[in-house]
Amino acid sequence: MRARVAANIDFVVGEIDPRLYGSFIEHLGRAVYSGIYEPGHASADANGFRTDVIDLVRELDVPIVRYPGGNFVSAYNWEDGIGPKEDRPVRLDLAWHTSETNEVGIHEFADWAEAAGTQMMLAVNLGSRGLDEARAFVEYVNHPSGTYWSDLRRKNGREDPWGVKMWCLGNEMDGPWQIGQKTADEYGRLAFETAKALRAYDTSLELVVCGSSTPTMATYPAWEATVLDYTYDSVDYISLHMYFKNHDKDLPRYLSLPAQLDDYIQTVAGIIRMTKAKKRSKRDVYISFDEWNVWYHSEAQDKATLQGEDGWPIAPPLLEDIYDFADVLQVGAILNTFIRRADVVKVGCLAQLVNVIAPIMTVKDGPAWRQTTFWPYYYASRYGRGTALNLALDCPGYDSAVATGVPYLDISAVRAEDGTVAFFCVNRHETEEIALDVALQGLPLSRIVMDKVIAGHALDATNGPGEEPVAPVDGTGAEVVAEPGGGRLTAPIAPLSYRVIRLG
Ligand code: AHR
Repeated sequence: MRARVAANIDFVVGEIDPRLYGSFIEHLGRAVYSGIYEPGHASADANGFRTDVIDLVRELDVPIVRYPGGNFVSAYNWEDGIGPKEDRPVRLDLAWHTSETNEVGIHEFADWAEAAGTQMMLAVNLGSRGLDEARAFVEYVNHPSGTYWSDLRRKNGREDPWGVKMWCLGNEMDGPWQIGQKTADEYGRLAFETAKALRAYDTSLELVVCGSSTPTMATYPAWEATVLDYTYDSVDYISLHMYFKNHDKDLPRYLSLPAQLDDYIQTVAGIIRMTKAKKRSKRDVYISFDEWNVWYHSEAQDKATLQGEDGWPIAPPLLEDIYDFADVLQVGAILNTFIRRADVVKVGCLAQLVNVIAPIMTVKDGPAWRQTTFWPYYYASRYGRGTALNLALDCPGYDSAVATGVPYLDISAVRAEDGTVAFFCVNRHETEEIALDVALQGLPLSRIVMDKVIAGHALDATNGPGEEPVAPVDGTGAEVVAEPGGGRLTAPIAPLSYRVIRLG
């Protein structure tokens, strides 16, 4: 099968915000405790953070991490996590049916973020709490000194404010599972008033209002229209979430889900434009896709804990999906979708980062290791920064239960500041190789600077501690021919493969 692609230097989607490759740490399962934080671990630093995990986070070059939840935040008192550790209360975590020791709070997480070389994106609780706690949290985190909350922060050991710019106004407030779920009208009003109060403090904050938890919610997409009607001129982003599942092991259907993702993004982008016109607004609102990932492998094993059969355990294993080779293709195609919509999707958070539906796993008292899905995230984060090119693609496709005309080749391209161009390819076909043929129009590219492939594994092949067989190898057979005005890239893209080719 042949796929013809045209890449033109002047035909672009837009600039990619590096925060498209963000991630997420929630107080959930072992994400924090024995994930990022394990004081007794051989690699722990003076603050109790696992440096083996920090090294892997740095390898991924994660630009921003959302914290502290997730469903957890909707019944969380941020003040429980400040002050001397021995005085901090143990609380029931109603979202995940566990106990929260509060050993890690905002001070510890901020220290971790600094050590991991990432920024914080914080969420306020608009489920069980409201505007007052939100404004106090922002003042505690961002105000220099001379007020109750800022001086309390200083007393607790942090002289300088952290200056956090991005704030999420609650989490998944449309979800029946959410503590303090609201109707779109109730939430829209509360989000508007909260945004007003936070902006009264600092107009430069970047505020994120909750969109739908998934495109299959009964309230989608009316939720977005109502919530934006209340908040359009007060917020900067609307948040979307989506998780990808393959319970039936129907690979063609599974790999076509990014088409549903694309439709979700385009629909919400349309609602944003409609609301802008309705309000005669001069401002733009963008999408913060601040939760996305494959999540289904662990659902059965988590049932007992989530239904309360284990009591209220502290940091039990939860949502510990072990990813396989099929998920590499899926995560690669999802990231391609975000790159192709980088004009409206500015922020993305792979949910989550460590142990909980995560690219990085840990063994308590043991090693940290890379899941299969670490790799497509790694390549997009490292080489997907710059300008997203608007590719023209001509390739045969197929129909699935959820989408029609899904091209067998999923491809995106990013031109970096140094002029190199990375092509990210996924071949969805189970048996046929794709002969990729890219016309490089106006792009002065003459050599292959990197070519990495993940292919040839059983669909259910996984990695584990000390053995990571699903990993990139050097690609072969790619050629670039330079011609006046632009050249040509040709490469064989193996059946069911993920491949990144960088040209310079
Ligand atoms: O990431 C896991 C959970 O998924 C989050 O807590 C919640 O926001 C979503 O439903």
